[in-house]
Parts: sequence; C-alpha cells; structure tokens
Amino acid sequence: MPTVLGIETSCDETAAALVRSDGDAARGRILSNVIHSQFDDHAAYGGVVPEIAARAHVDKLDQVVRRALDEAGAGWDNVDAIAATTGPGLIGGLIVGTMTAKAIALARGKPFLAVNHLEGHALTPRLTDGLAFPYLLLLVSGGHTQIVLARGLGDYARWATTIDDALGEAFDKTAKLLGLGYPGGPAVEEAATAGDPGRFALPRPLKGEDRPDFSFSGLKTALRQQATALGDLDDRDVADLCASFQKAVTDTLEDRVRRSLVRYRAEIADPSPTLVVAGGVAANRAIRSMLETLCERHGFAFLAPPTELCSDNAAMIAWAGLEHLRLGHADPLDMAPRPRWPL
Ligand code: KG4
Ligand code: ZN
Repeated sequence: MPTVLGIETSCDETAAALVRSDGDAARGRILSNVIHSQFDDHAAYGGVVPEIAARAHVDKLDQVVRRALDEAGAGWDNVDAIAATTGPGLIGGLIVGTMTAKAIALARGKPFLAVNHLEGHALTPRLTDGLAFPYLLLLVSGGHTQIVLARGLGDYARWATTIDDALGEAFDKTAKLLGLGYPGGPAVEEAATAGDPGRFALPRPLKGEDRPDFSFSGLKTALRQQATALGDLDDRDVADLCASFQKAVTDTLEDRVRRSLVRYRAEIADPSPTLVVAGGVAANRAIRSMLETLCERHGFAFLAPPTELCSDNAAMIAWAGLEHLRLGHADPLDMAPRPRWPL
C-alpha cells in the first residue's frame, strides 16, 4: 500500500498531495490535496507571467509540501516515493518542482518519479474510479486539447490535437477581449448563462471534416470582429457574445469528439467503452452535458472526475507516480525537466 507525495508546479498552481493505494484496489485514496493558486499574482497581466510564476513557486512550495504532510497526518517515514511534474510546462516552475522533489528523495533515501503532467490528467479516472484500460480521454485545458487512447500505463496514442489554440486558451482570450478577467473560462461560462447563443453567427472550425483535429483560432478572430463592430459593449452584448462563443465551442467539440467515438468503436475491442473528460475546461457545465448526451447516443459510459481533480492538482501527479512505482519504476536524479514532452 504505497503512499506517494506528488508535486505540481508546471503552470500557475503550486500544489502538493499525498495519495495512497489501498491494497489491490485499482483506485487511490487522497490523503491530502493542497493547492496554492497564483491567480492574484497574475490577474493584473491577464495571463500567466512565467517569471512571476517561477518565483511564486520558490516562495510557496516548501509550505505547500509541509501542509500536504500535516493534513494527511503523515511524516516522511510514511512516504514511499516522491513524484513531481517534470514536463510539459513552463521551465521555471518545472525546475522548482523537480529540484525540490529530487532533494527530498535524496535526503530521505526515497525513489524519485518524473511524471508527465498529461499522464497525470490521463490517469485521474483510475485514481477516482479505478477505471480499467482501455478508455478514450478528451483532455481540454489551458495548454492542451487532445483526444488520447489510453491502452495501458505508459501506452497512449494521440488521436487528435489542436492545430492552433488550446480550448482553455480560447476561453481565456475571449474573456480578456470582453474585459472579464483571468482565468477566463469560469467567467465566460458565468456570463453565458444570461446570454442568447443565437445572436451572433460564429464559425464551427473543422466541423464536418474527416481529420479528427481541433481548431479554435478562427473562432476567436470571428468573435473579436463581432465585438469590434459593436463598439462599446454593454452587459447584454457581453452575455450574448459569451453564450454564442460557448455554443460554437460546444457544437465544434461535439462534431470532433464524435469522430473519435466512431473510430474507437471500429478499432478497439471493448465491450464497455468509456469516454473520460479531463483538464480545466472539463469544469464547464455546457461542455459536460453535451458530452454526456453524445456518449449516451453512442453507447459510451461518460466519466468526468470532480472538477477539483480536473484542473491542475498534485493528487493526479502523486497517483501517476504511484502507478509507476507499483510496477517497480523509478527515475534517476539527474533527469532534467522537459518543457516539451508529448504523452
Ligand atoms: O487544466 P488546467 O487547470 O491548467 C492547464 O493545464 O492548462 O486548465 C486551466 C484552463 C484555463 O484556460 C481556464 O480558463 C479553463 O481551464 N477553465 C474553463 C472553466 N474552468 C476552467 N474553461 C471553460 N469553462 C470553465 N468553467
Ligand atoms: Zn493541466
């Protein structure tokens, strides 16, 4: 029953968590899950400033790790390995998290595990629900928009990706354009609830095309043109623009994801196919409910982890480390962070 400390510092969350696996159970038990968000440090700039992020990680990580141990009621003797996100992400933060994890591992004589952030997202349904391989994963975050076939631990195939912006990035840029602040996803979703999704005609990029990929930059540009044409925006305009944007996103996503569901059915022998959604954008209720309906129609089970485990956190990193540890894996202490590290 190993217990792993996970550290996540790849973007703007400084996070540490303790996760344990219970006997042979496939799922994990989260003993603590501490997140220090840097929202306030970056809010004035309308996005994450890498240098500020790196300094904030240096400032906060020790306290966050200490809290993760305290909240779990654990000491170092109870920790079997230290896992950290070593990529992909912003190099400054990756260095801080990786160096801290290695230093603890060296000082305490524990194994170090270098975790791919995307694998952390991909394995979350196993942590929460003990989901068995294979399954299909839609990963939608601020940095990534992908459909991944998860065949086994360390065995992933990317079926689709974005050819320009990530979906979360499109939400964030839309929010910035409309003066809704950062992070933009929740603000756009909130504003959209009061809006008319039919007021503005926006494109559905790549809809109907054979290639399985995503594209969002044309949508963002079209939105900017509509907003600019209006001049001064009142609350109604902003709500209608947000609602129209979210509807366009949901329609496009539905078309794109459907393609991969059909492919999964044709290529993978799986009597109980499952689609999992992960990443910060998975918190969006309109997107969740569209995916739920789509899955129902195509005979897929739909799994959406709790929102606090969809957005960046260290529990998913601890869990990914734990899954590798159980197979006897460990990484060398001279392993360098990898800002670009495909799954
Ligand atoms: O996974 P995550 O926490 O960090 C990355 O790895 O990027 O995702 C953050 C992204 C941001 O772009 C944020 O605006 C978006 O997820 N997001 C949302 C919502 N909540 C967060 N997008 C749409 N609707 C939401 N409710
Ligand atoms: Zn992420």
